[in-house]
Amino acid sequence: MKTTSKSIKTLFKPYLTVKNGYKGGRGISQKKEGQKVYKLSSNENPIGTSPFALKAIKNSLSDLHLYPDTTDIRLREALEVYYKQQLLKEQFICAASGSEIIDLIIRAFVREEDEVIISTPCFVPYKMFSCWSGATVVDVPLFENDYSLNVEGILKSVSEKTRIIFLTSPNNPTGSYISKEELEYLLNELPQDVVVVFDEVYWHFANTDDYTTALPYISNYPNLIAINSFSKTYGLASLRVGYAYMNEEVAAYLRQICKPFLITKLSLEGAIASLKDANFIKETIETIHSEKSFLKVEYNKLGIKFYPTQANFYLINPPIPSNEFVQFLAGEGIAVRPVDNFGANGKVRITIGTREANIALIKALNKLKLISLN
Ligand SMILES: Cc1ncc(COP(=O)(O)O)c(C=O)c1O
Repeated sequence: MKTTSKSIKTLFKPYLTVKNGYKGGRGISQKKEGQKVYKLSSNENPIGTSPFALKAIKNSLSDLHLYPDTTDIRLREALEVYYKQQLLKEQFICAASGSEIIDLIIRAFVREEDEVIISTPCFVPYKMFSCWSGATVVDVPLFENDYSLNVEGILKSVSEKTRIIFLTSPNNPTGSYISKEELEYLLNELPQDVVVVFDEVYWHFANTDDYTTALPYISNYPNLIAINSFSKTYGLASLRVGYAYMNEEVAAYLRQICKPFLITKLSLEGAIASLKDANFIKETIETIHSEKSFLKVEYNKLGIKFYPTQANFYLINPPIPSNEFVQFLAGEGIAVRPVDNFGANGKVRITIGTREANIALIKALNKLKLISLN
């Protein structure tokens, strides 16, 4: 090897050396003997996985030595049917998770000199992956009182350099949403060369009248991209599958950088089958809605301050410092998520679980209240 005074480190891109690693929702690492553990830290499906998906996955196990489909075309065809031909297969792109889709969109549109607008508290990868591209992240925080979107603030922050605006509805970790009126206003006011990423991975759980997905606006706004995931409603978090829909031309552009064989055989078969499982989707949504009502009553009885939610989790103000709160619940076998790194300092996000998990949570919160009173 030739000697030189230059180190390999001179090749490192400075913006890739900044530590901003994503920490996933933890389980309970120190489980007590015989203790039942409830994971309410990652907004997973409380009733499990679609039985249709499980059957399809089992049927595919004998094919693991073979490469999967080169492309996502079969999943896109299944999505066209799921959306009742309101969207065509050419309008979708699929990838190994919603997070991967976020990364793909950023790689496709963002250069080092560009700006990306986010509204914290929000899903960490928007900022993390934008920083990986060397772009400048401009934060227009949600309003603190109710976590609604600062629509005018976003419009004022748009510059010549703005490439992407991330909008999330329902939003993680706040559970707040963007109304139809707000979205329509933004879409009309924003320049056409700014990509609006509308992340709707929790859309199945929203039940307020003025909620909307991006679907009604896709044909009129070629700069609009909607992100979805199979991790939540379909109970396939472990298989990592997601998709996005948009204008056909933009989809064809993004597909250029979709890697071949990106989606595994099991993920592809599981996702396609789950789209047909209307009963499982219905049961999942009903469980979330009834457990959401149950928790609302119990949180009120306990005097826990929580934010209204359109998703499958609640953001709460813990009664004691959040790190102590999370540790206390971990000791009771319940994993919940501190969300300081999302931009919600001192708050904790708790997934809506099964009735059994929710009762365990309420019991633990009652215990904490008694300890605090003594
Ligand atoms: C708002 C939001 N978008 C996207 C995702 C990505 O989901 P996944 O990567 O599991 O498909 C999540 C996951 O928690 C999320 O909360």
